[in-house]
Amino acid sequence: MLTIEQVTALLKPVYDPFLNKTLADTKGIEEISIKEETGHVSIKIALAKINTPEQMQLQQELVAKLKRAGASSVGLRFGQLPKATIEAFQGIVEEKPTLLNGKSKTKFLAIASGKGGVGKSTVTVNIAVALARLGKKVGIIDADIYGFSIPDMMGITSRPKLKGNKIIPVVAHDVQLMSMGFFVEDNEPVIWRGPRLGKMLRSFFVEVEWGELDYLLLDLPPGTGDMALAVHNTIPASKEIIVTTPHPTAAFVASRAGRMALNTNHEIVGIIENMSYFESSVTGEKEFVFGQGGGEKLAQELRAPLIGQIPLGQPSDALTKRGSIYDQSHPIGQQYQSIAEFILDHK
Ligand SMILES: Nc1ncnc2c1ncn2[C@@H]1O[C@H](COP(=O)(O)OP(=O)(O)OP(=O)(O)O)[C@@H](O)[C@H]1O
Ligand SMILES: [Mg+2]
Repeated sequence: MLTIEQVTALLKPVYDPFLNKTLADTKGIEEISIKEETGHVSIKIALAKINTPEQMQLQQELVAKLKRAGASSVGLRFGQLPKATIEAFQGIVEEKPTLLNGKSKTKFLAIASGKGGVGKSTVTVNIAVALARLGKKVGIIDADIYGFSIPDMMGITSRPKLKGNKIIPVVAHDVQLMSMGFFVEDNEPVIWRGPRLGKMLRSFFVEVEWGELDYLLLDLPPGTGDMALAVHNTIPASKEIIVTTPHPTAAFVASRAGRMALNTNHEIVGIIENMSYFESSVTGEKEFVFGQGGGEKLAQELRAPLIGQIPLGQPSDALTKRGSIYDQSHPIGQQYQSIAEFILDHK
């Protein structure tokens, strides 16, 4: 049977997650009672901030700790520390940087397109891998929630693991990845709608243990529909790359995606024209199979630079044999390296 003294001793060294101080320092242990008949321990703890994910985490830790010490069950309530106590520790009160509160140093880079099938996901994975080759810590959120494809493109067959209440992203080619695809059985269509989707997307930011990323890339859903808009509105200040094919109509449609970026205050880093031409390996001649000039036109319209014109060419991914990643020695792989360098220089 636990005693009040034992419970007090267990709680005293526990840190308030928002003040760099223990519960003994903050006098945060407000009530302890123990039911002799049942061994039920009931406690009330005051924290600097309540109803937060940190509180949830602490709750789990404390319940586990008390049960290990012999409590049959634990009732835990939280209250708010008095303002004066919090102020007394001021200067140490610091909101933990999270990806969505704008305090982390991670740079966001969203990849958008007007139409589907122009190579948006291919561009996303190749830029991510190129940045990682330059020594950056990179993550991808596959935010194309209905049309997720990145796990397959990166040759990933495993699923994320859980550590406590955090999700550990899957790593491939030195890039960390989160995708809706990890939560869907056997490639079934996703039928979630509205709020549930929004929640899922938010959880990709806040419940995933990304570590200290330099860049987090987002593969956006194509077009300017509800889903694309919802994603634009969820992600914090982000830079964007718009992908188009060289056909003038594709560029025309892409310009709407570009304007959506600007309307949601996302700065456009540049335009990538994909499938720009086909170069014959025999004669070296270039054929403009999908037309010409789309990237240039879009760049002018959105007043952003054209940062890449990528020809047709199958990736020669030595690692997965099937994926969509160009080796560094492949001419297209080299183009992605220079795009990554451009992104690094972009302030
Ligand atoms: N430069 C290229 N040369 C050859 N094939 C390419 C090139 N870029 C992309 N592809 C191929 O074109 C197809 C579409 O590319 P991808 O899936 O990246 O486009 P997307 O815009 O993300 O499409 P979706 O709208 O379906 O998400 C894929 O099969 C991809 O391998
Ligand atoms: Mg895609």
